[in-house]
Amino acid sequence: MAGFFPDDNVLTCDGVRLDALAKAVGTPCYVYSAAQLTERFTALQRAFHDVPHRLHYALKANSTLAVVRHLRALGAAADANSAGELDVALRAGFAPVDIVMTGVGKTRAELERAVQLGVAAINAESFGEVGRIASIARTAGTVARIAVRINPDVEAGSHPHISTGSKTTKFGVSLDEARAMIRDVAAHPDLQLVGLHMHVGSQITSVEPLSRGASVLAAFARELMASGVRLEHLDLGGGLGIAYMPGQTTVSPDDYARAVVPIVRDTGLTLLFEPGRWIVGPCGALVTEVVDLKPRADGGAFVIVDAGMTDLMRPALYGAWHNIEAVTPREGTPMIADIVGPVCETTDTFGAGRTLPPTEVGDLIAIRDAGAYGSVMASNYNRRPTAAEVLVENGTWRVVRRRQSIDDILQWEL
Ligand code: LLP
Repeated sequence: MAGFFPDDNVLTCDGVRLDALAKAVGTPCYVYSAAQLTERFTALQRAFHDVPHRLHYALKANSTLAVVRHLRALGAAADANSAGELDVALRAGFAPVDIVMTGVGKTRAELERAVQLGVAAINAESFGEVGRIASIARTAGTVARIAVRINPDVEAGSHPHISTGSKTTKFGVSLDEARAMIRDVAAHPDLQLVGLHMHVGSQITSVEPLSRGASVLAAFARELMASGVRLEHLDLGGGLGIAYMPGQTTVSPDDYARAVVPIVRDTGLTLLFEPGRWIVGPCGALVTEVVDLKPRADGGAFVIVDAGMTDLMRPALYGAWHNIEAVTPREGTPMIADIVGPVCETTDTFGAGRTLPPTEVGDLIAIRDAGAYGSVMASNYNRRPTAAEVLVENGTWRVVRRRQSIDDILQWEL
């Protein structure tokens, strides 16, 4: 079986024991399952098999080259959100025609790079941006392919920090603005309108926000096409959520496809998706070692581990819940514990009031579903080097990103 499972009382990844792996690599370390990446990417591909579509993997979720290369080899395209992610995409072997460029606040340099490369689409976020892209394309003597990002004004129903599709957020433009922008694009010979884009939000666990967004996008496309505007694709963004808590209800790729395909099919347009979390989230765990234990004044205990919010920021930033488990659970009376990191902030807490098997210093703990928005959001706060990353593939493992050293961190300072 692909992914993370206990075997003979040891947590394994694709059959590789995490205790042996952590001993060899050190902790904290991210461990990814290549087999599970394959399973999940393929499931999403299969769900949309009967419509022309392309999965532009959202690099922001996890842009470690080995992970990105693995997905590219499976047939993924890419969604880049910055010049840095564009470079990652190119190094991972994507051709510019496989890349869409998204993001609020693209700098002139980022736009120049996207235009010069000739990416599949630049998702334009404002009137001003369309003008800047046109002037860059004119200077470069090329025609830039543009999609207009509309704000569908749909509540994603997820954490407010990651809900992007309601009209008061900074993302996209209203339909009225989009109509004006599209007239503007048509007036520029240096621009070609190729699509419409939206992204409702992230970690969406019911189908309604996704299908409502799709309805807005499809209706707008029909309106434009009826007035003679030519389009190639509809980009429905990402957002499909995962079950961080055991038993949490989510939307399966098949249910997602069943909900949105009938809404958009009659446009005849190719569907683009920008999934990130759903593909990589469950495929990664952060493995960390217990460095200290102490009682809490009001009962329970602190289990202090060598990973911190610098390695996995989601709990500190969004109060996100991640499953936390012992790699080699001991027998005996379970303990109630707050699993915390070493950073000097109370918010550096991976989980509060959790039940763990009896735990001792030196034990290993796995923080699950850390494959998305884990390593990519790491920081060097407290001068903490970023963790090593390991890919398990075909029964063996390899370090795909080495642990940072303090010299790595200090090398930029003059
Ligand atoms: N496309 C666009 C335009 C996006 O802004 C995002 C995510 C995606 C695609 C991918 O969404 P996904 O399929 O992964 O939900 N750091 C937060 C998540 C931020 C998501 C930002 N945008 C977290 O840890 O939950």
